[in-house]
Amino acid sequence: MWELATNFTEVLGAVLALLWGLAARWPGRVLVGLGLFAVVIQVGLVGLTWPTGWDFVSNRVVLALPLMLAPSIAVVVLCLPRMEPRWPIQAAAVGALLDFYVVFVDRPAPPYTVNVIVLWAILLGATGLLWWRQGRIRTLPVLAVVVVVLGGAVFYLQRASVLPDRLDMASMTNLDWGGGPVGMGHDHAMRSVTDLVGPVGRADAAFTLVAQEKRITLSSGATVDAWTFNGQVPGPELRVHQGDLVQVTLVNQLKNEGVTVHWHGLDVPNAEDGVAGVTQDAVRPGGTYVYRFRATQAGSFWYHTHQDSYQAVDRGLFGPLTVLPPEEVKGLDIPVMAHEWTTSQGVRTAFGTSDTLRRVAVAPGTPVRLRLVNTSDNTVWGEADKDPRTFVLTGTPFTVAAIDGTDLAGPTPLTDVRLPMGVGGRYDLTFTMPDHPVRLTDLADPGGGLLLGDGPAPAVRSDLPDFDPAGYGAGVPSPFKAFDRRFKLILDDGPAFYDGSLSFPSTINNLLFPDTPMLMVKEGDAVETTFVNRGHNDHPMHLHGHHALVLSRNGEPVQSWWTDSLEILPGQTYTIAFRADNPGVWMDHCHNLKHAFQGMVMHLAYEGVHSPFQMGHQTINRPE
Ligand code: C2O
Ligand code: CU
Repeated sequence: MWELATNFTEVLGAVLALLWGLAARWPGRVLVGLGLFAVVIQVGLVGLTWPTGWDFVSNRVVLALPLMLAPSIAVVVLCLPRMEPRWPIQAAAVGALLDFYVVFVDRPAPPYTVNVIVLWAILLGATGLLWWRQGRIRTLPVLAVVVVVLGGAVFYLQRASVLPDRLDMASMTNLDWGGGPVGMGHDHAMRSVTDLVGPVGRADAAFTLVAQEKRITLSSGATVDAWTFNGQVPGPELRVHQGDLVQVTLVNQLKNEGVTVHWHGLDVPNAEDGVAGVTQDAVRPGGTYVYRFRATQAGSFWYHTHQDSYQAVDRGLFGPLTVLPPEEVKGLDIPVMAHEWTTSQGVRTAFGTSDTLRRVAVAPGTPVRLRLVNTSDNTVWGEADKDPRTFVLTGTPFTVAAIDGTDLAGPTPLTDVRLPMGVGGRYDLTFTMPDHPVRLTDLADPGGGLLLGDGPAPAVRSDLPDFDPAGYGAGVPSPFKAFDRRFKLILDDGPAFYDGSLSFPSTINNLLFPDTPMLMVKEGDAVETTFVNRGHNDHPMHLHGHHALVLSRNGEPVQSWWTDSLEILPGQTYTIAFRADNPGVWMDHCHNLKHAFQGMVMHLAYEGVHSPFQMGHQTINRPE
């Protein structure tokens, strides 16, 4: 309901502007009647979206509707039935344009004080002028003024959106203290990111990852000009035990591209987090870098470059990272990385490099754990940027034993469900192998997938209900009693310039990086964060260095689970909580990497921690 009504509101905003524009020029009963009718519909549509919550309608109720309603009422009172005087009709055209601007173009986020003042100044100023002229308006000069003003604004916005040559964390000015005590800021350096390193000592597990170019052939024969770790995609599985001190040496043999390694979901010390321009400089071609951290969390994780990640992860610079529990692992325990490859034959959906059905022999009775990772956005099936990648496991009841690397409490067997997953998220699927085949399929390619066991492949159904973690298992009791800080972030999207080009980026509080808020905390704080998705796209929000407990969705409490990559659909509100127990400067971004690339990035910064690194056009670092 939310999505449909909200989309109609935007379309109707354009229709309103057009109708009233025409009515202002030719003020006949038909046009004015249609205009008034459209206003009534617009009010009705906002009424329909009202139950979704105040955060979803506030900019329409506070800003858009009054700007449209006030002149419409003036038209009804003053101009019916003779269509005289004309200035209220012309004022309604101005109001309709401003309505369109609010619901479609600017989409402001609270607080609205400045917006109210500016928009009403425009409406009242224009109305005063029209009243004074008594409707005697020459269309061409008015249009000329509008075009010049709009053109100037567009020119200015384009120039202003170009990212600076050098940008560092200390230059972020939009500090959000979440209602808690305001401190000195993050650039009052007591500690540098570079001091927050992993432990010294002899490593329990040591690996080398060599970034190199290689042409990869998928199982269908389609080829990918890939960027690989160790000549393979995905990169090699790093399989370690809980408690291990892990050392990874990164060697960059790419020709022209910097590289880093980020340990997605592992809450490592900040200096080991692998974000170019925030926790290190990207490793240049020919360079090396050593990461060290203790793998304290058992579970399914993945690693990927965090330099140019929109392009580089897509091309293959990622791999699985598995931290095994102390207990012995029995049976089949494998990572399954769902990825969309850009190949010689177009975009192909695959598990690893298998873009056709792949059979694996498994004896009946074998315990199976599939560590499913979604490494890329869904563009083949459904609408690009929009629907989460969705999987189906057919042939046996199974449990979702873990989400985002953390075991769930009391998971129960599932059958006949679809598994939608945001980018970056992980589901561990466990079952005991039956005496007939089991199939895992990405619905973007219903003919492919992973087929375990002997016998004919079971058919894949897509008309199934979605698995919903919010009502699954026993839930984790919340360790949070009270909060030191509360953040609220409104996610939306609309036309805007970013780094000089016009597109339709997704925004946080109607802002793009580096203007997005920097969430400021002190070590030890209990932090509550609320995400409101008011836009058209889903956003898998990923906070580095911390795990958050999901507390509620759309205002209703959930069976809480720990997450590091939370899929937030249009029309949804999620409240999550985390303990600020890992000092540093941490990226917090949408893992739909296209969105991040277009500015859907913010940071969580601890007071007193500063980063000496820079990003921007004059540096090598481009984290997204
Ligand atoms: Cu998968 Cu910023 O990371
Ligand atoms: Cu997004």
